[in-house]
Amino acid sequence: MSITTREHDVSDIRLAGAGADKIAWAGREMPVLRGIAERFRTERPLSGVRIGACLHVTAETANLAIVLRDGGASIALAASNPLSTQDDVAAALAAREGIAVFARKGEDRDTYYAHINAVLATAPQITMDDGADLVTELHTKRRELLPGVRGGTEETTTGVTRLRAMAAEGVLSYPIVAVNDAFTKHLFDNRFGTGQSAVDGILRATNLLLAGRTVAVVGHGWVGRGIASRMRGMGAIVLVCEVDPLRALEAAMDGFEVTTIVDAAKRAELFVTATGNVNVIGKDAIAALRDGAILANAGHFNDEIDLAHLTAIATACREVRPFVREYRLKNGRSVVVLADGRLVNLAAAEGHPAAVMDMSFANQALAVEHLAKKAKELKPQVYPVPREIDERIAASKLAAMGMRIDEMSEEQRLYAASWKSGT
Ligand code: NAD
Ligand code: ADE
Repeated sequence: MSITTREHDVSDIRLAGAGADKIAWAGREMPVLRGIAERFRTERPLSGVRIGACLHVTAETANLAIVLRDGGASIALAASNPLSTQDDVAAALAAREGIAVFARKGEDRDTYYAHINAVLATAPQITMDDGADLVTELHTKRRELLPGVRGGTEETTTGVTRLRAMAAEGVLSYPIVAVNDAFTKHLFDNRFGTGQSAVDGILRATNLLLAGRTVAVVGHGWVGRGIASRMRGMGAIVLVCEVDPLRALEAAMDGFEVTTIVDAAKRAELFVTATGNVNVIGKDAIAALRDGAILANAGHFNDEIDLAHLTAIATACREVRPFVREYRLKNGRSVVVLADGRLVNLAAAEGHPAAVMDMSFANQALAVEHLAKKAKELKPQVYPVPREIDERIAASKLAAMGMRIDEMSEEQRLYAASWKSGT
């Protein structure tokens, strides 16, 4: 599909009213971002900066986009997943907030990339990505735009992995701040955010009872830990599959049964992948699955379940409920895949709650401000969020939650920095 207008491409602009209400509702849970907005409106630190963003188009992202616009930036926004767009929110941003949105829930692959290219056509000076598709498109197909780009941010683990690979090969053209790696991002968003919203997506799609059900969580990183703990909280019997012995050991001592994917395939009724890796539910595991097994993915790309193999060995395939596709297999069993193997929390539910995106997107806003000031001093590498930003966000969130903490006394500060006193 080709985009003919530079203004927007959304599913239904008449949804703007509902979208505006949804954006305002989410905003109530985002006090840290609100504080940044107040400062941005007076200081205008992004005055005249063109931002090109590829993020999930949700009510939380809308609040971020509005803050950046209030800071003086102009913003073009495309979706970072074909299924994650909230069409009412996209309509509200386009119709009421002056943000150039190119996103429709359910868009095909060609439209997904046409939308990214519509954003790139605005010649962004700062890029914001969730998964590095925009950066990849820029570095492979739109290289003529690279000299105009000052810096970028990256939201998720998989994106940071891809950018580090680009930097290691010497092909990254501009500095990128790894928002994912901030403590106030991955400790909360990846773990508690995905932990809750992946369960939410699975339940909205299936209305399954989790209590007493055997669930396998594949990957025990930040996302996997969160999902495993929330599944257990709902009464599921949780198996964990890992390839990293340290994380597997952690899972075991957290009280989960650790086992291989093929063993889990023989026993579990529901699977959730969260590895950022490819075909983690591959041919061997698929062959061992129980009749009726349900497969969901919470990792960034729809590569974690070998859907090509599943399709090849299926005799029939049909959507039995929204986001629920049943494959009838030659071996007589059926396997159910949620949301076409795409991020189940964003496709079948609304993504993370705003209270957690508050911190992720405070990091994004402050990282963009940092780049607007400092990009000239940075090399084309992947940079951490400055520690001082991370600490400011944590302090601000705690204050908004009404929690107070102690400060070290002078005696304690000296003690903590010395080596002389001991037993
Ligand atoms: P992480 O690196 O902390 O964890 C990934 C884990 O998967 C690691 O422990 C790794 O050893 C394990 N793993 C890799 N290959 C495996 C295999 N074949 N079998 C079993 N385990 C395997 O990463 P993370 O922060 O937990 O992120 C995981 C994925 O989730 C990434 O793709 C990330 O981008 C995505 N993510 C999604 C959301 C969301 O909203 N759904 C939010 C944050 C991150
Ligand atoms: N990633 C996970 N949840 C999200 C949300 N609610 N908005 C934007 N990106 C997200």
